[in-house]
Amino acid sequence: MSLEMNPRITDLKISGIRTFANKLVNYPDALNLTIGQPDFPAPDKVKLAAIKAIAEDKAGYSSNAGLLELRQAAADFFRDKYDCHYNPETEIMITNGASQALDAVLRTILLPGDEFIIPAPMYAGYVPVIQSVGAKAVYLDTTDTHFQPSVERLKELLTPNTKAIMFNYPTNPTGAVIAHEVMDEIVEFLKDKDIYIISDEIYSENSFGHEHKSFGSYPEIKDRLFLIHGLSKSHAMTGYRIGFLMGDARLIAQTVKVSAFNILCASVPSQYAAIAALTECRDTPDVMNASYMKRRDYVYGRLVDMGIDVQKPEGAFYIFPSIKKFGMTSEEFATRLMAEGGVGVVPGSAFSEVGEGYLRITYAYAMETLVLAMDRLEGFVKSL
Ligand SMILES: Cc1ncc(COP(=O)(O)O)c(C=O)c1O
Repeated sequence: MSLEMNPRITDLKISGIRTFANKLVNYPDALNLTIGQPDFPAPDKVKLAAIKAIAEDKAGYSSNAGLLELRQAAADFFRDKYDCHYNPETEIMITNGASQALDAVLRTILLPGDEFIIPAPMYAGYVPVIQSVGAKAVYLDTTDTHFQPSVERLKELLTPNTKAIMFNYPTNPTGAVIAHEVMDEIVEFLKDKDIYIISDEIYSENSFGHEHKSFGSYPEIKDRLFLIHGLSKSHAMTGYRIGFLMGDARLIAQTVKVSAFNILCASVPSQYAAIAALTECRDTPDVMNASYMKRRDYVYGRLVDMGIDVQKPEGAFYIFPSIKKFGMTSEEFATRLMAEGGVGVVPGSAFSEVGEGYLRITYAYAMETLVLAMDRLEGFVKSL
């Protein structure tokens, strides 16, 4: 059949992370450090709240923006933790994970030809959504600025077509966090520009050894900011599919329409589970972070000992070493490491062309797995 489909969709590539994870099936003995999700179970209180909701038949539709009780819990949580002030009635919507929040925002604001600036290397989920609406991703290279966005570089990238800029701190794939002074400078620069700001802060609860500062805490940009959050990482709830989109009432009134005609509402038993996460399990991320920090220190130390150039991550659960000195593309290195070394990692090129020359290693895995994986990586590197 030759019936045409939308080239904006047929031209999209499957995520490089999934491609690599799928290749691992051919190497059953390889250790898989590719997938970005906590290796902890969801908290018991979360599980019980979901079970209770189902048992009590609380499983009909909710309003398109989500249960008001959950929006209230989210408003309280982000106010208490990050000094973000959103009205639960009009400024918060519950989404099917941060992914759908992102989709709703981008489909609400972007037109074909719009330019969308993203500090890179960045999460592989952004660009396909940008491309699917005919807009263009513009990368702000952070590889020579410690994975921090340079305001000077941002200024150079602005054109009359710039519609929005995205931030994701702590960052997937680098684990970098943004310095508060850099945030102040960015906000000062953007506050009177007609540019939307989107901040995906899904890893905020996984900040190590310092307080996370949110773009949502700057009142001067509230009229143009979309704040994206979710429980996948903070509460090990990836499969529950709960995210939050927060913004000025004028913005959320529009994104709710996109969500209404797309998902109608987020899974209602999961919304009840989310209330438990936000109200009864606020300490859950601390427990996981204590463990992530030990694993981060271990993996970082091993990479440094191997003579690999790497920046110490300060959040999320990824580390992003440079493999430039080995004279291979990241795809070649990762493919050989999988086949010859028995370790699966993601090539940096999966996180835009700016990520070429790096690897993403997820350390949300058991310590024994990490020890063995680092031994194997060391053996592989010595064999080169
Ligand atoms: C930076 C970033 N944003 C969003 C997502 C998607 O999260 P969710 O499970 O809430 O859709 C991920 C998942 O890996 C991510 O790393």
